[in-house]
Amino acid sequence: MRIAVLPGGKVWTLVLRLFPLLFLKATVASPVSRLERAESTDAEGFLEKYGYLHQEDHRHNKVEVTSALREFQWLSHLPVTGRLDSPTLQQMATPRCGVRDRGSQHTWARRVNSIFQGQAAPSGQHRRSKRYSQPGEKWYKRHLTYRIINWPRHLSPGQVGLAVRTAFQLWSNVSALVFQEVAAGPADIRLAFFEGEHNDGTGNAFDGPGGALAHAFFPCRGEWVNLVLTSDMAERWTLDGFKGHNLFMVIAHEIGHTLGLEHSPVRHALMSPYYKKLSKALVLSWDDITAVQQLYGKPSSGQLVQLPGQAFSSALQDLELARGGRGDPDSARPQYCQGFFDAITVDQSGSVLVFRGGLFWSVSAQGNVGAPRPLKHRWPQLPLAIEAAAFSPMDSKFYFFKGRRMWRYSGNDLDPGFPKRSDEVGLPRHPDSAFFYAPLGHMVVFKGSRYFVLNLRTLRPEPYYPRALSDWNGVPRETNGALSWTDGRLYFFRELRFWRFDPGKVRVTGSGQWAQELEWTGCQRPDGANDIL
Ligand SMILES: *[C@@H]1O[C@H](CO)[C@@H](O)[C@H](O)[C@H]1NC(C)=O
Ligand SMILES: [Zn+2]
Repeated sequence: MRIAVLPGGKVWTLVLRLFPLLFLKATVASPVSRLERAESTDAEGFLEKYGYLHQEDHRHNKVEVTSALREFQWLSHLPVTGRLDSPTLQQMATPRCGVRDRGSQHTWARRVNSIFQGQAAPSGQHRRSKRYSQPGEKWYKRHLTYRIINWPRHLSPGQVGLAVRTAFQLWSNVSALVFQEVAAGPADIRLAFFEGEHNDGTGNAFDGPGGALAHAFFPCRGEWVNLVLTSDMAERWTLDGFKGHNLFMVIAHEIGHTLGLEHSPVRHALMSPYYKKLSKALVLSWDDITAVQQLYGKPSSGQLVQLPGQAFSSALQDLELARGGRGDPDSARPQYCQGFFDAITVDQSGSVLVFRGGLFWSVSAQGNVGAPRPLKHRWPQLPLAIEAAAFSPMDSKFYFFKGRRMWRYSGNDLDPGFPKRSDEVGLPRHPDSAFFYAPLGHMVVFKGSRYFVLNLRTLRPEPYYPRALSDWNGVPRETNGALSWTDGRLYFFRELRFWRFDPGKVRVTGSGQWAQELEWTGCQRPDGANDIL
């Protein structure tokens, strides 16, 4: 279990990781590089933490480690090699749920078996459910209460309330379960947001930017269940945008655990151990639905009601618009200052435009922030939650990217022939960020470990691209946005941080917290007070 969120937990984690290191030093005979040794130590720590290896004395023989790796690889859709290869190491650093995976392979095998048995013997329903449900792993009632104990600081209570309500509905709409919120007193499921220490990721490769996002406890009869969202991620949680970790998806997943569901090997399942993005698609997969129905049965109406991810994000958009896009009601600072935005760019007058969800803010060259406005008012055809935006001074046009499409606007008018498919112009889907780069005279689009260059005159990719991100010495992967500022430098943003890139020196020459340090982002309070952690 993830104890590291509780005070003092860090010490415990460290002790745990120390032992395998000593053990390896003493027993590894062949020359192994220090890096490999450190990797395998971290990996064993990871495999213990998520239930693939026992934790008794932190000693595992080769057979145990190989079989643990194979099981992990199977659940994670990797080639099953039993070796600690680079896809496996990478997967271990992917954001995931803090609940262990142990047993999920067996549970899933049983689930699939019973589907086939069910087809062969439709009268076996009663017998099957008796045989496959184990005491202590499910609730013995269908009507459950839940209570939100506290609210995360960086999100509005209204939005969190809606997210929680919708997440419970997701499950009750496809099963015989009924949930009721209670404001006080005892409840079967309690949701608590722990604002623990900030985990900076040093010294622990698997608790860095990825790491565990949340965990929940399985149901125990007669006891309350806590759902604990680790708050080292608090500021990276969003409800309205598509970048960052969507709190709704995380809550919906953890609720699955409190109902007794284990991790699913099905790639698009909500109960996959890896963080699933909110998209237009249905949130629950067939496997999630089968799993909850095997424990609790079908809805009494016989109807499954499923809400596509899109509908959920629109509901949150409406709520945010109604509130005028303010984050913390006590704070005068615009909401994007709390961390995430979808895209950022700067227009010819030197105004910075910040996009988030269905809104955009404009920060004048003097650092004054206007009220948020709906995207639709200025760029009528644009969808919510765009992924990248760039203004090009060369043609005075705005370019927007989302999914597999690109929009181009002259003023408020969408240019004829747009939106275009990104692959038509040689660009990737779902770009991270984009900006007009004067030294090249072209648009640069970042995506993962590569960047692409688009000639805006011909709307064709420039030859010899895409190239590796490493050309941009020091620029991190998965930036939220980027722009060329009037000081001639480029600024890259990711979550709360920024990186300043000097085109002359061809490398990053500075970094920091943008909301505090870059006045032109409009996030410094007029009185100079800073209330950020
Ligand atoms: C659940 O079903 C109700 C109506 O049956 C619907 O209004 C609601 O949007 C559904 N919620 C989800 C999360 O699917
Ligand atoms: Zn989980």
